[in-house]
Amino acid sequence: MLQRLLPLVVLLRERFPPAYDLLVRLAKRFMGGVFGVYPRTLANEVGAVTEILRSSQWNMAYGRGLAHERLENDFAEAVGARHAIAVASGGVALQMSLRAMGLKPGDEAIHQVDTCSATAMAVMNAGVTPVFADISDSTFMLDCSDVQRRIGPHTRALIATHMWGNPENVSALRTLAREHSLKLIEDACLGLGAVVDGRPAGSWGDVGVFSFGCIKPIQTGEGGMIVTHDETLARELRSLRHWGDRTIEFGVRDATQLAWNGRMSEILAGVAREQLRGYPRHLKEVRDAVGEFQIFLEDFPGLSLVLGMADSVSSCGFTQAVLRVDAASLGFGKTELMAELTRNGVANWHANFELINGLSFFRSGGWRDWILRGDIDRVGKNNDGPFPAAERVYAHDGVGLGKMNFLSLGNRKHLESVLRSLTKGRAA
Ligand SMILES: Cc1ncc(COP(=O)(O)O)c(C=O)c1O
Repeated sequence: MLQRLLPLVVLLRERFPPAYDLLVRLAKRFMGGVFGVYPRTLANEVGAVTEILRSSQWNMAYGRGLAHERLENDFAEAVGARHAIAVASGGVALQMSLRAMGLKPGDEAIHQVDTCSATAMAVMNAGVTPVFADISDSTFMLDCSDVQRRIGPHTRALIATHMWGNPENVSALRTLAREHSLKLIEDACLGLGAVVDGRPAGSWGDVGVFSFGCIKPIQTGEGGMIVTHDETLARELRSLRHWGDRTIEFGVRDATQLAWNGRMSEILAGVAREQLRGYPRHLKEVRDAVGEFQIFLEDFPGLSLVLGMADSVSSCGFTQAVLRVDAASLGFGKTELMAELTRNGVANWHANFELINGLSFFRSGGWRDWILRGDIDRVGKNNDGPFPAAERVYAHDGVGLGKMNFLSLGNRKHLESVLRSLTKGRAA
């Protein structure tokens, strides 16, 4: 098994980076399947790009029957939404959604404290104030009762993140949003393919947003998508992605909102469409492999899969597989586990992101310079925390295993053999 050489490769990375880079390039080129290399082509991406490059339409701005429209139709169908709007990134998708739904400076949007900092940054770049909430110990996702406690007079939206493709409790969050007349945005940037109560992630909220950037379920270099059932909102979003110009959607050359260049290039739309076409098969392979790993964990002390609101792997997207660490049963803790996995060439990371309120921009109070209106002192107190569950998960309880561990049989067997050897003689 070539994966046994991975610890040597880790040494090479530390001692001789240029040799390591060369080796990785060769392995990616010739042994992508063996090492679970990702991103990878999932269908005919090369053919789609060639076709677009040979045409005269590389940009989505004008014209009909273009690649992004075909992508939007396919994407809307795949996630069970009436409309899909192709955009430049997941972050711009969040900003445009908040603007299109009428959120203004001084309005607040609540999201989990340990999602990607892109979420808080996007909220602020839309002129809106992010308010952080703690997570649940059992799902590692938003704690709905904590969200409820943090709803105040300026709250206008809830953002539910399907973290790493684990389904969020969107049913409860939607009820909460309705009770308080709030908008619900599903951040499904990491969650394409996740399913909640039989319905795809992204189709529950007023809008769902997706990213096609780095480490995302499907990838196009950069890119994103917004989905909604609301036709008026869809038209507003299409106009917002063209610097707010209303010519195409409303037949008037005018702008009524502060807007962005949120366009996706036609070339990337061609890639995205092929990635989407190959995604169901790809996701099935990942789910099957994580399912096998779950069986391995049944007899393994101290580690268990966390699936968000799902009761089976078949409802998850698995951009990363999330584990709960029970240090007492395992015989050692998260820090040692992550260090040993890394030393043995097993891709791993935290279960959730670092707490956003701990990043210098928030800790230092720098964020205050960018909030134009609202009850800033109340928000400041909220930012100070504490967020006990998220702090515990980040420090002790949560580890993530990169998707590449499940993209080749060799990688998964290597992961399992590293875990077995780590716990030999140590587990309680
Ligand atoms: C949960 C989450 N939301 C939003 C984003 C932003 O997406 P993008 O990088 O495409 O702007 C990311 C990724 O960076 C993410 O992981």
